[in-house]
Amino acid sequence: MPVISERTTDPPKPESPVADVKPDIVIGQRVFTNQCSKCHDLPDPAKYNTERWDGILRTMIPRAGISRVNEVHVTAYVKANAKSN
Ligand code: HEC
Repeated sequence: MPVISERTTDPPKPESPVADVKPDIVIGQRVFTNQCSKCHDLPDPAKYNTERWDGILRTMIPRAGISRVNEVHVTAYVKANAKSN
């Protein structure tokens, strides 16, 4: 049996600090305004319901290069202002 050597460095930090982030709509609006107007006019959050936004943000957030933390904020902002179905 191969010997599993002992770990000499700390394991990598988990990918997701996101669970600890308290969504902040004010930060979210700033990120939205700055990052989501780079390629097209700023969309109106009230144009889509939260379900549609989930799908849209899944593709747009990576395109905009938004960090995991700001993703939490921008998602909160958009959903707080989304169309009510
Ligand atoms: C790198 C360029 C780029 C950035 C940054 C970007 N978008 Fe887009 N967006 C596009 C393109 C291109 C389209 C046209 C549809 C497609 O290709 O998916 C689009 C389409 C859209 C649409 C219409 C979607 C639909 O399904 O009708 C919405 C809403 C939208 N973007 C929201 C956002 C939001 C919110 C952000 C910020 C998180 C953002 N976009 C950032 C490029 C971008």
